[in-house]
Amino acid sequence: MIPSIEWIDNKVKMIDQTLLPHELKFLEFIDYRDVAKAIKVMNIRGAPAIGVAAAMGMALATIEYKDLPKERFLKEMEKAADIIRKTRPTASNLFWAVDRIWKIINSFPDEPKNISDLVIEEAKIMAQEDINVNKSIGKNGSAILDDGDVVLTHCNAGSLATVQYGTALAPIRAAIEEGKNISVIADETRPRLQGARLTAYELHYDQIPVKVITDTSSGLLMRLGKVNKVIVGTDRVTSDAVFNKIGTYLVALAAKDNNIPFYVAAPTSTLSLNETVDDVTIEQRDSKEVSHVLGQVQIVPDDVECLNFAFDITPFRLVSGIITEDGIFTHAELLKKYKK
Ligand code: MRU
Repeated sequence: MIPSIEWIDNKVKMIDQTLLPHELKFLEFIDYRDVAKAIKVMNIRGAPAIGVAAAMGMALATIEYKDLPKERFLKEMEKAADIIRKTRPTASNLFWAVDRIWKIINSFPDEPKNISDLVIEEAKIMAQEDINVNKSIGKNGSAILDDGDVVLTHCNAGSLATVQYGTALAPIRAAIEEGKNISVIADETRPRLQGARLTAYELHYDQIPVKVITDTSSGLLMRLGKVNKVIVGTDRVTSDAVFNKIGTYLVALAAKDNNIPFYVAAPTSTLSLNETVDDVTIEQRDSKEVSHVLGQVQIVPDDVECLNFAFDITPFRLVSGIITEDGIFTHAELLKKYKK
């Protein structure tokens, strides 16, 4: 699968995911404000991809302000960081990425021009790191997959949700590379249909067998024995729970009720173990995403209110294991390994 985002000639190039699967169109930005908007309106989405986009947005801002005196440069960069941080509240990678770039800016008391070069370099390093981390998650996670397994996934935690290769889809790609026959069932994932539009698109693109189901079908398919494992991604892992696309909690409950292993693929950039559930803001998006399918076909009568929570909370008691780039961990092992 082609990279979802790249830094090319001081421009940010990304796939416009709102047009998939109908059109593969690239957007190119030189203004960090446009990158922030692309995150907000979900031209690019998925926690790791949002993180890298945020870092590249900061890099564009350093180019815009590098000729300013140092104090002015820092002031303008703070404004840019604030605009990027305010795009979406739940995915921890967004804040992790902005903080990482700030560390670079603060640790080099140098001329803005040189700082800009360093920040650009760091953003590019973060993009390559994302791919390397996903490949490691793939290798670690393929061990839980047996030849012939049918894996159910929710939302899109694939190549399109990262720079490349994906998180939840990485063990599937790695297992197939190891010669195992693996097929995928993708929840359509209302209301923005990331499963139907994006997971199906990228797996089909890579000739990996995939079927799409309505979100409400996953429980029955589990009960009928048509699912061997579940692997999902995550937007934030706190000390007491996993945040992911709305509907993940229901999939986890059904998996538990049917004794089906439920795994979460989580790059360490998504771990936020010093937080608990109460510290996290769950994004609520425009109700029109619910009342109008893909913003077009109205399915809810006028004047009827719709609620549109973008993410939900899955308690660790429903999680069989967390797959990171370092291995597979139970809840207790994860806290022991990573909680500072
Ligand atoms: O609203 P989205 O499309 O950004 O939500 C994405 C998800 O919930 C993914 O599962 C998560 O970000 C992990 S992506 C590797």
